[in-house]
Amino acid sequence: MIILGIETSCDETAVSIVEAQGDLESLSFKVLGSAINSQIDIHKEYGGVFPALAKRAHIQNLPIVYGEALNKSGIKESEIEIIFVTVGPGLEPALWTGINFAEDLGKKLNKPVVPANHMLGHTVSVLFNGKKIEFPAIALLVSGGHTELVLLKDWKNIEKLGETQDDAVGEAFDKVARMLGLPYPGGPEISRLAARARNLQSSPSTDGLDFQLPKFPRPMIHSKDYNFSFSGLKTAVLYYIKKIAPDGNLSDMQKMEIAREFEDAAIETLLHKTKTAIREHLPKTLIVGGGVIANKKLREDLLKLNETYPDLEILIPDKDLTTDNATMIAAAGYIDHLNLPAQAGGSGARELRAKGNLDLS
Ligand code: KG4
Ligand code: ZN
Repeated sequence: MIILGIETSCDETAVSIVEAQGDLESLSFKVLGSAINSQIDIHKEYGGVFPALAKRAHIQNLPIVYGEALNKSGIKESEIEIIFVTVGPGLEPALWTGINFAEDLGKKLNKPVVPANHMLGHTVSVLFNGKKIEFPAIALLVSGGHTELVLLKDWKNIEKLGETQDDAVGEAFDKVARMLGLPYPGGPEISRLAARARNLQSSPSTDGLDFQLPKFPRPMIHSKDYNFSFSGLKTAVLYYIKKIAPDGNLSDMQKMEIAREFEDAAIETLLHKTKTAIREHLPKTLIVGGGVIANKKLREDLLKLNETYPDLEILIPDKDLTTDNATMIAAAGYIDHLNLPAQAGGSGARELRAKGNLDLS
């Protein structure tokens, strides 16, 4: 089946043409052509995504990105069999641009337009290059817009175990970076500073230097659920900065120390909940999706789980599939599409989709 995937839930305009084959047991995907336009430069000066600007940029970019994906794929428009478009979760004005574009194209090509869930997309982003998910699986989804733990007993039983009650983890990285005067997106900047701090603190040449390490909370680490909260951690950083530098002028060393302790606190929280979910649900696969998995420390700490759980398969998407993209939307749509006919009572995938903030039905 030749699929067109469309993704505009946040600040990436993405279109992908994917050839999907097989049933739920023998899924296989091949990317024929994929194109993406990132709006990072547009949102940089706001320190985060500005929905009205995102909408305008998506409207401008969609025809261009679609043309590019089609060109790369080498197929004709008329060969597209179905269109899957992200309907949520995401920024509503941004989502509608993709949906409107998909519906117009669907009418023109006389092909069905079917809603797809963004989080299922991140979850299945590991299914490329022949990788397979063995069930049960746990998915840790971490990005600028989401922080979730999901349990997949199989493709028909997907349950959200917990999610952030306020800021997403990537959003917290971005906000703390802003407090430190670092550019958007802040995640890579914070992790660069944190790594420098760790190097310095372990270097013999700086032995004896007095490092004033702050101590930030590990939010909700003792709560008995799988929810997260990063807003308190962000506020703790803010108060700490106000205390040590009332004029707002932090030294480079202070910035490094804050970045390091913040990164440790955020990652420890993610790891703690993930480990609890592993102990409770004994998954065969751990999936990690979303832009924050670019974080080197998080990646290393997660891979270390194999020391305790050697049989746990840890699946991390290829780099271009970690951040928002339309290839994962094509895959999510296809899986949902295979799932739905047998699931009149509502599949896990359908429930996930219903939790998206738009419902096209
Ligand atoms: O998946 P993504 O591209 O977009 C969303 O759906 O949000 O994730 C972007 C987020 C940003 O918040 C960014 O700061 C964060 O991922 N990020 C990182 C790193 N690289 C990107 N966070 C921590 N460490 C990193 N190295
Ligand atoms: Zn995302």
